[in-house]
Formats: sequence, structure tokens, C-alpha cells
Amino acid sequence: MKSIVVYYSFEGNTNLIAEVMAEAIGADLLRLKPKKEIKSRGFGKYLWGGSQVVMNKKPELETFKQDLQDYDLIIIGTPVWAWTYAPPIASLLEKANLKNKSVGLFSCHGGQIGKTFINLKKRLADSNILGEIDFFEPLSNYQTLAREKAEKWAKDIAGKAIE
Ligand SMILES: Cc1cc2nc3c(=O)[nH]c(=O)nc-3n(C[C@H](O)[C@H](O)[C@H](O)COP(=O)(O)O)c2cc1C
Repeated sequence: MKSIVVYYSFEGNTNLIAEVMAEAIGADLLRLKPKKEIKSRGFGKYLWGGSQVVMNKKPELETFKQDLQDYDLIIIGTPVWAWTYAPPIASLLEKANLKNKSVGLFSCHGGQIGKTFINLKKRLADSNILGEIDFFEPLSNYQTLAREKAEKWAKDIAGKAIE
């Protein structure tokens, strides 16, 4: 079975979890990179990122060579932005055809996940969603536990994908 973890991460939390999951199940890793990234690390990032979400922006991504069609299991990871998934994930889902694919979802957040999974599942109505899991700021909160949780979940999802 071929698996991939595809994700966006602005500040490293989603990256941490994506790497742990990929390592746990021997999946490929694909980090989505917008051609134009936010400059601000201060409060301005919330205004910039939040307005991208509100305006339903789908930023252009740097090209990547992987074709999601080649994979049996696709795990999608996103930080929560303005109570939903981040715009680069919207860019991905606009182009990728994940119809009938086995998909797992994870998010990293600061305590308010809002409609992140509801919106993702709406967008992926044609896919076979195997599960979802969220992580509260895993870089700075109980990182060891977060790693264990990520590893176990990824293995469970990979098991379900084989069934
Ligand atoms: C533009 C922006 C909007 C955010 N909105 C939310 C939110 O609505 N709810 C929440 O819990 N955290 C929110 N956060 C916090 C991030 O989801 C959280 O820090 C996450 O761990 C970041 O993942 P990353 O390090 O992979 O970028 C926001 C962060 C940014 C930059």
C-alpha cells in the first residue's frame, strides 16, 4: 500500500506531526508551500491569514512532483486558521481529485478547531474518510505525548486503509 502525508505548516506544528506520522507508516511526505508566504510572525499574521480564509483565497502553490492519484492512503494535515482549514489546503483540494480515495485528516490548533473537519469532510464528500484527529500546539505542549498519539493514529488509519 502506498501512503502519503500531505500538509501545510506555517510555524512547524503540523510539520512535526506530519513527519511523525510518515515515519510511523512509511509514507511519503509532501509539504505544500505557497509561492507567497506570510511575512509577519507577529499579530499581523492573524490579520493576513484570517483575511485569506474569509476571502476564500486559494494561494498558488509551488509545484510538486507527486501525483496523489498514485496513492492508496492520503493523510491531509492542516493548521486551523480562522476556525477552518488553511488556504493552501483549499488550493490543493481545488486541483486534486480524491474521489474514492482513503483519506485521514489531522489538524493542529490553539484550542478552537471550529468547523475545520466539518468543512474538510464537506469538501471531500466523495472520498472515504477513515478518521480525524487534532493536536493542541504539539511543538510546545506535551510533545512526547503528541508524538505517541500521532504515531498510533497513523498506524490505525493505515490498518483501516488495508481492510
Ligand atoms: C492566521 C492564523 C489563524 C489562526 N486561527 C486559529 C483558530 O481559528 N483556532 C485555533 O485554535 N488556532 C488558530 N491559529 C493557531 C494555529 O492553528 C496553531 O498555532 C497551529 O498549531 C499552527 O500550526 P503550524 O505551526 O503548523 O502552522 C491560527 C494561526 C494563524 C497563523
